[in-house]
Amino acid sequence: MYKIVSKKDLASNVKMFKVYAPRVAAKAKPGQFIILRLHEKGERIPLTITDWSKEEGTVTIVVLEAGKTTKELASMKEGDYILNFVGPLGKPAEVKYYGTVAFVGGGVGIALIYPEVRAFKEAGNKIITIIGARTKDLLIFEDELSKLSDELYVATDDDSKGHHGFVSDILKKLLEEGKHIDLVIAVGPVIMMKVISDLTRPYGIKTIVSLNPIMVDGTGMCGSCRVTVGGETKFVCVDGPEFDGHLVDFDNLIARNRRYLEEEKIALERFLSHG
Ligand SMILES: Cc1cc2nc3c(=O)[nH]c(=O)nc-3n(C[C@H](O)[C@H](O)[C@H](O)COP(=O)(O)OP(=O)(O)OC[C@H]3O[C@@H](n4cnc5c(N)ncnc54)[C@H](O)[C@@H]3O)c2cc1C
Ligand code: FES
Repeated sequence: MYKIVSKKDLASNVKMFKVYAPRVAAKAKPGQFIILRLHEKGERIPLTITDWSKEEGTVTIVVLEAGKTTKELASMKEGDYILNFVGPLGKPAEVKYYGTVAFVGGGVGIALIYPEVRAFKEAGNKIITIIGARTKDLLIFEDELSKLSDELYVATDDDSKGHHGFVSDILKKLLEEGKHIDLVIAVGPVIMMKVISDLTRPYGIKTIVSLNPIMVDGTGMCGSCRVTVGGETKFVCVDGPEFDGHLVDFDNLIARNRRYLEEEKIALERFLSHG
């Protein structure tokens, strides 16, 4: 059992939890994730390791309330216990010096780029960070990212802060102005990662995306998380979650992520009416 040692509201539908999981904290690296199960009847869901402390033995996760399990997790309190908390899973990010690295974070993806921004900064890179959300209240981790970034740009869909529009508009403008960028790392909704990859392709800028297919076991056994990358089948849980965005078949990923929509809707309705 894994104790929730602290809980914080980052936005109305985004919660941050520190969980006591010393063995995960001891081995965690940027880019990796955990799979948790809340209780005996719970489903397994993957969540990125946003931060960790070897000294405290804690792992920080940031959760966007998407459906039944994430809403159930969001309703848990400090002192509650999570039944299973397995990790670190997946390959760590390849952190090294590239020159100028542009990070693009959308929605909950803003929190998920944080450990990589920190690691790439420590590796001596110049950091450009572009974050975007529907509205300014959902712009999580802005202070933390602004401290680590040489340049920080903000976009909101509703014009409540920064650029009125998408994160991709900002990257497009920077590229059109001739800004030199050696690597782009994009984390957020699949459609955002697809648009960013399409944008950087003609410029020949290497673009890394962190894929979020439906996962079950997280160990390469069930095949649920398979994606097509460069014409080859890859399992995101063991070969990823990070891949070259120019090689990912995003349309296939979008279609596969929709395959349990009906079941997810029923599970959420049942949870909201019965708890
Ligand atoms: C490697 C990885 C890291 C992730 N990191 C984070 C994170 O740090 N924070 C965060 O808020 N979300 C993260 N996600 C997405 C998160 O796992 C889903 O939002 C969550 O599983 C939704 O479950 P639900 O029951 O609340 O919603 P549901 O109603 O079941 O589903 C809502 C949507 O979530 C996705 N989803 C559902 N079940 C799974 C599953 N088992 N695996 C993956 N996606 C699923 C589907 O696209 C679905 O349409 C990550 C996903 C992956 C694969
Ligand atoms: S989640 Fe089962 S193979 Fe990746």
